[in-house]
Amino acid sequence: MSRIAYVNGRYCPHREARVHVEDRGYQFADGVYEVVLVCRGAMVDEAPHLDRLDRSLAEMRIRPPMARGPLKLVLREVLRRNRLCDGLIYLQVTRGVARRDHPFPAGVAPAFVVTAKRLALPDQEGSLAGISVITIPDIRWKRCDIKTISLIPNVLGKQMARESGAGEAWQVAEDGTVTEGTSTNAWIVTGEGELVTRETGQAILAGVTRARVIALARAHGLTLHERSFTVEEAKSAREAFLTSATSFVKPITRIDDRVVGNGIAGSFSMQLLEAYLDHARGGAA
Ligand code: PDD
Repeated sequence: MSRIAYVNGRYCPHREARVHVEDRGYQFADGVYEVVLVCRGAMVDEAPHLDRLDRSLAEMRIRPPMARGPLKLVLREVLRRNRLCDGLIYLQVTRGVARRDHPFPAGVAPAFVVTAKRLALPDQEGSLAGISVITIPDIRWKRCDIKTISLIPNVLGKQMARESGAGEAWQVAEDGTVTEGTSTNAWIVTGEGELVTRETGQAILAGVTRARVIALARAHGLTLHERSFTVEEAKSAREAFLTSATSFVKPITRIDDRVVGNGIAGSFSMQLLEAYLDHARGGAA
């Protein structure tokens, strides 16, 4: 089955999907995006993802490409044409195509692209083994709450992680606190069995998975604090994990040179992974 993309009003084979060289996304990274998990053919937490897209567009002063109703129809049509069961759907909106000039172009329609990709759900064995993360300075701008396609620090950080044999890089603010991963939110479980994840604000992206896991944790009667934590606190935590639409709940068993807990995924992480997968499969719908 060949993949189908949606590009500015047309459905086309993925290999032929193109935008103009003067798309402002290409020239200025002047755009925003969303990544939505698809499970059993349905989008997981579609509404909060579309709410966040609206917010990112408003903060960037980019006009929405269409109203939410038609936009949802486009997303469903992309899923249908790709016969997607488990995977992700990627949406990108840029300020549009215009002769290169920094200020906003007048009378230009935003450009809208949607693609879909298959993705395997996590398996028990891999989850138990967990991943390593490295810590790196957070060198990003001061509006990390906007989901812009301008991702160079994130790209460089993820590459450093890969070159160190790690699965993610945790970015660290000047005060020594962890902000978030390069494409994920960061969590720890304290020695007292309390979940901790950084409060939302302009320093991090308000992850949709983060919000979902907070709700699931509360429903399971777990204690949770939204506050920042230092690298040192994380290294001596009982458990650590990360969340994102495409990483689900992913246990972390090493931070830099320190083993977390006893070196395999902890019970809180595994319980929340199960709860999240249940929700994604429609169990909580
Ligand atoms: N990344 N923080 C950053 C910097 C992110 O890029 C993401 C998502 C998250 C988690 O957000 P959510 O739970 O809504 O996926 C946190 C997506 C998956 C990506 O860039 O591929």
